Amino acid sequence: MRGWIIPPPKAPTKSAADYERERRAKVRSLEAQGLLKSARIKAALLKVRREEFIPREYRDYAYDEVPLPLPGEQATISCPHSYPLFYEPLGLERGHRFLEVGTGSGYGAAVAREVVGHEGLVVSIEIDPLTYEFARHNLQHMGYADVLLVLGDGALGYPPAAPYDRVAFTAACPDFPAPLIAQLKPAGRAIAPLVEDDRQILTLLTKEPGGVRREKLCPVLYVALRGTYGC
Ligand SMILES: C[S@@+](CC[C@H](N)C(=O)[O-])C[C@H]1O[C@@H](n2cnc3c(N)ncnc32)[C@H](O)[C@@H]1O
Repeated sequence: MRGWIIPPPKAPTKSAADYERERRAKVRSLEAQGLLKSARIKAALLKVRREEFIPREYRDYAYDEVPLPLPGEQATISCPHSYPLFYEPLGLERGHRFLEVGTGSGYGAAVAREVVGHEGLVVSIEIDPLTYEFARHNLQHMGYADVLLVLGDGALGYPPAAPYDRVAFTAACPDFPAPLIAQLKPAGRAIAPLVEDDRQILTLLTKEPGGVRREKLCPVLYVALRGTYGC
C-alpha cells in the first residue's frame, strides 16, 4: 500500500481499559480536528470496540491513524478518521438504508449500524472470501448479526435491498459505477475515493432530478477497487 507504513505485527499487550481510554481520546481528537460533528456518529464511535475488528497481531495499534492488514488480498481496516470523514458528508442518519462497498473488518458496517439504528438497514459487500469470513465472524461476535453481508462485487450493488439512501465505497475506483447510481434513492448520496491521474480524491455524489452532482472533498489514499469497475 503506497504511502502508508504498516507497524510490525506483535502480541497484544493492552487491556480493555487501555482501549477504552484510547477510544475516548480518539473521539475527542476527531472532534477537535472538526472531522466529527454529529452526535449519532460520535455515539457510534464511542460504542463500537474497534480493537475487536482487528487481527490479534495488530490489535495494539487499533486507535493509531494507520490502516491495518486483514485476512485476504489487499484488505485493510481503514484509519480511525476515515469513518467520520465518509459518514459526516454523507449525512448518515437514523433510519437510512446504507450500502457499504468493501466490508473489510466489518468495523465500518458496525459503526453505520449504530448510526442508522433499528429503523435503518446496513448492507455491506466484500469481494474477497477470506475477508468476508473475517468480517462475518467479527460482526456476529460483536452483536451485529443483522448487518446484511454479501460476498461479491460491490460495484454491482445489491438490488434485492435497493433503493439506498446512502452508499460508501471504501476502495478507490475510476468513477461511481452506474449500477450503484441506479440503486440510489432520489436525493440519495454516495461517497468514494475517485482516482484522478496518480492521486485519489474523496468525492461526494448527490442524485438530483436532472442527473448527478459531484463535489470533490479532499485527497485520500485507499486500496484499489477490484472487479468489473475496478482500477
Ligand atoms: C479499505 S478496506 C475496507 C475497510 C472497511 N470499511 C473496514 O471498516 O474495515 C477495502 C475493502 O474493499 C474490498 N473490495 C475491493 N474491491 C471490492 C469490490 N469490487 N466489491 C466489494 N469489496 C471490494 C477489499 O477486499 C477490502 O476489504
